[in-house]
Amino acid sequence: MKKYVVVGTGWRGLMSYIEPLIRDFPDCAELCAVCDINGKRARFVSEYMEREIPAYTDFDQMLRDHRPDVVIVTTKDCAHEQYIVKALEFGCDVITEKPMTIDDQMCARILETEKRTGHKVTVTFNMRFMPFYVRIKELLAGGILGDIYSVHFEWLLDTSHGADYFRRWHSIRANSGSLLIHKSTHHFDLVNWLLDDEPVKVNAFGTRRFYGHTREERGERCLTCPYKGTCEFYVDIDTSDGGMLKKVYRDCEDEDGYIRDRCLFSDVIDIEDTVSVNVRYRRGAVMSYSLTAHSPYECMKIVLNGKKGRLEADNAFNVETIKFYNRQGECMVLDRKHVKQLPGGHGGSDPALRRNLFRGYTEDPLHQMADTRAGAMSIGIGIAANKSMKEDRAVYLSEFLGDFYPEMEKPGKEPDKQ
Ligand SMILES: NC(=O)c1ccc[n+]([C@@H]2O[C@H](COP(=O)([O-])OP(=O)(O)OC[C@H]3O[C@@H](n4cnc5c(N)ncnc54)[C@H](O)[C@@H]3O)[C@@H](O)[C@H]2O)c1
Repeated sequence: MKKYVVVGTGWRGLMSYIEPLIRDFPDCAELCAVCDINGKRARFVSEYMEREIPAYTDFDQMLRDHRPDVVIVTTKDCAHEQYIVKALEFGCDVITEKPMTIDDQMCARILETEKRTGHKVTVTFNMRFMPFYVRIKELLAGGILGDIYSVHFEWLLDTSHGADYFRRWHSIRANSGSLLIHKSTHHFDLVNWLLDDEPVKVNAFGTRRFYGHTREERGERCLTCPYKGTCEFYVDIDTSDGGMLKKVYRDCEDEDGYIRDRCLFSDVIDIEDTVSVNVRYRRGAVMSYSLTAHSPYECMKIVLNGKKGRLEADNAFNVETIKFYNRQGECMVLDRKHVKQLPGGHGGSDPALRRNLFRGYTEDPLHQMADTRAGAMSIGIGIAANKSMKEDRAVYLSEFLGDFYPEMEKPGKEPDKQ
């Protein structure tokens, strides 16, 4: 029986770790305590679970009192690093939500501490467990394309899902590192995993012309907004999600001032809502990636061009399609189906991930469990993209990861130019 504690008792911590740990893994996992900077939200865990769970605002005290085997980190992104490092130093293993952290310096501290302490950090990339991507991974691992030359990857968030990032802490760069870290870490990890390769060099552009201070009809938050009767983005925090937004966030506001329904057109927003990124991989593949957070509809499309043909996979309007074009231009539809809403969160991927995390399966033929190297390579693209936009240049990941992975390609050695 392993002892766990959770730091960060917001939506993800509560719904994806605390509740399932208690409900589904009582034979192998003991949840000893929870911690959050917001004491009310930490104490709400006991109310929600209808049992007493020790709640802390002092992380060190929680570790001393309970001496857990594993710390689960589900705080906002910028706080991951401090808890990962403290937990490793204390002698614990760590399970951290994506993104592992948000910038190069915090990433370096995690990698250094993990190496020095010998304890282990697992980064949870639930997309690796979604049946659609598992199918694509199996096709690629089976050699359907042979060598992969290029990837075109487009991700569209609509003005419900996409907008929600701009209401919350995510929309402030210092919290999330921008969508290039917070959101795209999923997508960059997916491509790294599908290609079984690592990124070398990144160039990026980004803009924000939809959210932020782009209209005059705006307030501080939906709850008190003078335009609530006319704004198409109005949300009622008191009734949304069956009243859970009120319980988890609004009722806890007086402790930390965090407003969950802040105006999408606020001046404080400083992240991009549109990005375009180019990446070159070690084995020569190149990727063009774009993320749009204000699309009229939700969709993802990934195209892989290889030696033996072209694989196109997309998910739009709840239909998943995978097509393969051979060298003769003939098209085979390998998969086309309505997405089944499997229980347990994120298309059934969360329960599959949790089984691996908490039951500790020894076999992992598709390499779905991710370590700090995978965590670093996925945020590495986002960190390099942020640097690229700021410094107006192409950025090598070796500039900030090279000390840990000396074999990474350095500037001036582009194999495709040799
Ligand atoms: N894999 C996925 O599909 C997925 C989905 C959602 C969220 N996440 C990740 O889970 C994490 C939490 O996201 P969420 O949606 O639950 O956000 P949230 O805002 O609901 O919860 C974050 C919690 O962290 C707490 N917190 C903030 N700063 C802290 C600090 N310094 N110390 C302790 N606690 C602190 C907040 O009070 C809050 O309770 C994020 O890292 C996010 O990227 C992953």
